[in-house]
Amino acid sequence: MPPSLAAWLPGWAPTWASTPDAATSDVHLPLSSSFLAWIPRFLHPFLRSLLVRSLRLGPRPRHVAFIMDGNRRSARTRNLPVRVGHEEGFDALKRVLSFLLKLDIPHVTVYAFSIENFNRDPTEVDALMAMARTRLVEICQHGALLQQYGIQIRVLGRRDLLPLDVQDSCAKAEEMTASNTRGILNLCCPYTSQEEIATAVKRTVDSCVAGSLSIDDITEDTIAANLYTAASPPLDILIRTSGVSRLSDFLLWQSSERTILHFIEPNWPDIGVADILPPLLSYQAEVWVERVAQAVARCGAWWSGSGRSKVE
Ligand code: FPP
Ligand code: MG
Repeated sequence: MPPSLAAWLPGWAPTWASTPDAATSDVHLPLSSSFLAWIPRFLHPFLRSLLVRSLRLGPRPRHVAFIMDGNRRSARTRNLPVRVGHEEGFDALKRVLSFLLKLDIPHVTVYAFSIENFNRDPTEVDALMAMARTRLVEICQHGALLQQYGIQIRVLGRRDLLPLDVQDSCAKAEEMTASNTRGILNLCCPYTSQEEIATAVKRTVDSCVAGSLSIDDITEDTIAANLYTAASPPLDILIRTSGVSRLSDFLLWQSSERTILHFIEPNWPDIGVADILPPLLSYQAEVWVERVAQAVARCGAWWSGSGRSKVE
């Protein structure tokens, strides 16, 4: 690729020129979506890079979350074991992360395992635990996705419920990325939002009992500062896959302000650029409208105040 083109289209490499590189985990999110199926495949890398380039010209969300649903349905429709659906789900997570990190979206939160998921078939739970045991450390290794982009991983929730060796892997993954400062991947596992809120309330009460906080000083901000996600900014976008329009006890507190909720049909392993694009564009439109409104208000204030009197 000519150097000038490479500079203008970061991450672009034509399919015929790309060599898979496990070390750098340079995985690409497919464009997907049936309405884009007519576009020849060799143009996809070019279009994806063009899109990244265009989106980077506008305001970008700082925090995006995903309910990664539909792994089992994706596997079952192809007569594959459920375990394969979850493994493909993990690969999809790497592709989505790679796309968001290219956009400089620094905080991503994903629902990897609900506390309720412990009630599933033990074989399935074991397969998910095996994946957590090996693959969390894998994405944190030198040269792999999180290190490449300077992102920390944090495993949020009732970690004490995980098998001990999985707890060790979580701690190791966190330790490997602890010095990264450009953003955070919050992996919620095992998590429910009501448990998170109850824990935040307990932590707040503990501060009152210890005398470092007065009951009268408890506000929404005090509770928010005690949530597992306290190190991340307010949630801008929440996306759920697989055609289900429920929050399923995920980020209930965090979704209560100005979060754009976006429910999409594809199962998580099949998610593509076209599925993520609409909420990103809605976010940009909202920010632009807000900026124009602020500019108009400032002009109005200037016109009706000191500015006009100086003109007169
Ligand atoms: C929901 O699909 C998905 C999960 C319960 C697991 C999601 C996990 C990953 C994508 C990988 C990361 C996980 C770990 C533990 C490191 P589902 O099983 O509810 O599928 P269905 O809706 O089709 O039944
Ligand atoms: Mg499900």
